[in-house]
Amino acid sequence: LIDETSSGLGRVVTCVAPVNIAVVKYWGKTNEDLIIPLNDSISLTLSTEHLRARTTIKTIPQSNDITFELNGVTEKLTKRLSRAIQLCREEAVRQNTATQEVVSAGLTIISDNNFPTAAGLASSAAGFACLVCALQHLYGIQGDVSAIVRQGSGSACRSVFGGFVRWAKGHREDGNDSIARQLFPASHWPELRVLIVVVSDHKKETSSTKGMQTTVETSDLLKFRTEVVVPKRCEDMERAIEKRDFPSFAELTMRDSNQFHATCLDTYPPIFYLNSTSQEILMLCHDYNQKKGAATVAYSFDAGANAFLFTLNKSVPEICGLLQARFGVTDFKGDPVSDFCLHEEHGSSISGSKTKDVVKYVIVTKVGEGAHLVENDTSS
Ligand code: DP6
Repeated sequence: LIDETSSGLGRVVTCVAPVNIAVVKYWGKTNEDLIIPLNDSISLTLSTEHLRARTTIKTIPQSNDITFELNGVTEKLTKRLSRAIQLCREEAVRQNTATQEVVSAGLTIISDNNFPTAAGLASSAAGFACLVCALQHLYGIQGDVSAIVRQGSGSACRSVFGGFVRWAKGHREDGNDSIARQLFPASHWPELRVLIVVVSDHKKETSSTKGMQTTVETSDLLKFRTEVVVPKRCEDMERAIEKRDFPSFAELTMRDSNQFHATCLDTYPPIFYLNSTSQEILMLCHDYNQKKGAATVAYSFDAGANAFLFTLNKSVPEICGLLQARFGVTDFKGDPVSDFCLHEEHGSSISGSKTKDVVKYVIVTKVGEGAHLVENDTSS
């Protein structure tokens, strides 16, 4: 919502931005400061209906203070946040879209996420994409801002766009061609669904930034992955998505998640992001697919224990039924699921004792739009 005054000062802009989940993962940088990745990655942008960051920015004339509030708590400006603001200001001046007076005015930044930060979902990706989107609209910056977002947090640059997105590592030393682009819009594959299985996990995880740094320094497998496996996998993944070929998409997604976690194990000392519940979910998917005779559900895990499951809308009731039977999940958030069911022939997938309380809840969602301005921001 832009309230333009004649001076360009006193503006208020609100944007929302989505979470994205990589199906060919980014893990490792060639440049730590500029956040240039070792390999291309491909992701799905999730609907902002159930998971979104929201940022409102106001300019404060006659001040150069920047204040930042996240989920109602005043936070310090991190180095990465300050840098994202600085880059947007420089770009606005370069494009001559905002005056020096406007870009040097103070800022009040108010952000919130509509999902618990403690759930361990990629809040920083949505957060950085949202901040830069709001600054882009505040300062009138034209064109693609994914290279700026990238410098806040690598994976965040993919949240700029909706649908199916590829982040190219680029070739330039200054990182200017390390940008995200949309491969296909969300409407390309409307049957695709994403189930986020939020797993109870109490351990403190190694941050992605630190974890990938250690992997780059110590893993031999990472070199093979980035040089040999990922280039081909990105091409295969693009083709599978283009053809809406679910079995191929599913196998590539699961293999890539597994290889990412294998490079974590190959890190010295090793990093473990999956816990025993993650492993149970993973094996449940393989078991289910085997009984179905074709890949019907796929999993992917990031730097945490939560599972992201992909399936087609017709299989959602059965997969929810499976999670309910196996883990006793009763809390299904997001899109409503009609008629949970569990067919007899899959009953044996849940044999053994039910493991209770290890899954907190499941969010049922789909692919959606990228970061955008909120035109009618009437919400509080
Ligand atoms: C496992 O983007 O959080 O989610 O660039 O250091 O901020 P920084 O790391 P970050 O790493 C995300 C890694 C991942 C895989 C992915 O999203 O591609």
